[in-house]
Amino acid sequence: MKLGSVRDLEGNRPVLKDPDASGPDPVYWVFPEISDPSATPQDDKAWANMTVIVPGRYGNEYPKTFGHYHGTNVNETYHLVEGEGVLVMQKRILKDDNIVEDQVEEVYLIKAKPGDEILITPEWGHSWSNVGKLPLISFDDWRSGHKPSDYEIIKNMQGMAYYLVDENGEVKAVANPKYENLPEAKWITAEEFKKL
Ligand SMILES: [Fe+2]
Repeated sequence: MKLGSVRDLEGNRPVLKDPDASGPDPVYWVFPEISDPSATPQDDKAWANMTVIVPGRYGNEYPKTFGHYHGTNVNETYHLVEGEGVLVMQKRILKDDNIVEDQVEEVYLIKAKPGDEILITPEWGHSWSNVGKLPLISFDDWRSGHKPSDYEIIKNMQGMAYYLVDENGEVKAVANPKYENLPEAKWITAEEFKKL
């Protein structure tokens, strides 16, 4: 297994609720090519990447991945291996084929447990938060690369539409004030999301 990328705190600051907060550093690691798709059976997902996110807090915000959209028309599947995670999913709004940066159509907060699989179709921006006490470990099957613009939209908005924070030991969603006309975030399980 090889280490693909490390997101240090400096790199994640642009999307933090409090960009000056201190906390664990690095924030997460991505290990690519964890399996060889040609060597696995058809019914196996042939996972491409493993992501490991530290536990902890930045101020009261939980550690999270930067967040991105997919600029290509390809689906991604996540498999939660270990830990307690929340996948923030926000549905893009398109205008003349471009993503409207400061608005989203819907927001789901998927409370995921080990073994859950979540299919991400191209209209959903997404970011994982580690809301547990242990590292959050996930697999995904993304092999289509990323364009800078996949991340820039989230960077320009100082993160996803909602921040996940610890409020007296409870996970709470706080609206990102940079977004306009924000819909209410809906808490949901991975099973429920599948049925939508
Ligand atoms: Fe993705």
